[in-house]
Amino acid sequence: MFIKKEVFEKIKEKETPFYIYDLNLLERTIQNLKEVLPENYKVHYALKANVDRQVLGLLSEAGFGADCVSGGEIKRAIETGFEKSNIVFAGVGKTDNEIKYALESGIACFNVESEEELIVINAIAEKNNIVAEVAIRVNPGIDAHTHAHITTGLVDNKFGIPEPHIESFIKSTKALKNIRLVGIHFHIGSQILDLEVFTGLAEKASSIYKKVTELGVTIKHVNLGGGLGVDYENPDQNPIACFAEYFDKIKSVLEIPRAVEIHFELGRSLVAQSGSLLTKVLYIKKSVNKEFVIVDAGMTELIRPALYGSVHKIENISSSLAENTIYTVVGPICESSDTFAHDTKLSITKRGDYIVIRSAGAYGEVMSSNYNLRPKNDPLYI
Ligand code: LLP
Repeated sequence: MFIKKEVFEKIKEKETPFYIYDLNLLERTIQNLKEVLPENYKVHYALKANVDRQVLGLLSEAGFGADCVSGGEIKRAIETGFEKSNIVFAGVGKTDNEIKYALESGIACFNVESEEELIVINAIAEKNNIVAEVAIRVNPGIDAHTHAHITTGLVDNKFGIPEPHIESFIKSTKALKNIRLVGIHFHIGSQILDLEVFTGLAEKASSIYKKVTELGVTIKHVNLGGGLGVDYENPDQNPIACFAEYFDKIKSVLEIPRAVEIHFELGRSLVAQSGSLLTKVLYIKKSVNKEFVIVDAGMTELIRPALYGSVHKIENISSSLAENTIYTVVGPICESSDTFAHDTKLSITKRGDYIVIRSAGAYGEVMSSNYNLRPKNDPLYI
């Protein structure tokens, strides 16, 4: 990662660890996505990936909608400039209070995941004298070929309405006066790099669209969710996700009339590469077989390696030594899972060096915790 001299000066002034957001790269990513977005396709940014106010400001300014999974996210989306009529509310376990707040806020649509949820939304909408627009989240039974923890479209996953139950779900929506079914929603997983998976999803979505309209429902939008992956190994070579290829693949097989909007809920692919975790080396320690770099960030700041075994590129930005050594990079938390990289190549490292952990803009800061009562430091924007 190339760090300008003046940025390095700012880094040195701050208490570590902290996140760095490259807002310029984020703007370029947004621009690229907008340039290749087909006409009737619309993006709702998935807030769960990153809720930093400056990041959200740029995304709302770009005209994207917001995909929220809690009352807190809806509130943050409104505060950071997303149009209420462009906010959708998803999630398998929405609370009554969250549903009430969403209805009162005038959001666009609920992505509904069960018949019981539908009944609760109807009752709350009735009390408020509102007709709630909903999309049925369908579980399409598609394997996303990604990590099991972030696969959501398999029949045994907790998400969505099973295909064989679609008809009875539609019957229920017709019987409920304060519900209007306007959309079909899918989301099969995250960090998907095999684009053929999306071709399969688009085919499935087309056939379910046909089935739902044949059951007498007028569909305004079909939402294909998020999931497009990023290149964690080569963030400098591939700083922007392959949006054009992704939309082309989907477009080539999708058989849905042009009057129907096609929605996407992209999270990671918009923000991952714009964020890095900056941390300082506390100690170098040799064991019998390994050499550890102990840094001041831990699984408290970035839990992805501990939770999913995910690999983030790690660089020493202080050391100009060309020579590499094999290190295991660990944090200060009293758990062996608090490891950022096992046996990785790094230029020769010493106490006080600055280390960046790349591609941490998505599911990084949002998943951080105060475990061990560790404080959180404000990000640096560059
Ligand atoms: N829509 C729904 C319904 C979702 O559940 C998700 C992500 C998204 C959209 C956005 O997906 P994306 O475009 O970001 O892949 N913490 C994990 C990722 C969890 C993803 C959860 N759902 C990680 O660090 O890899």
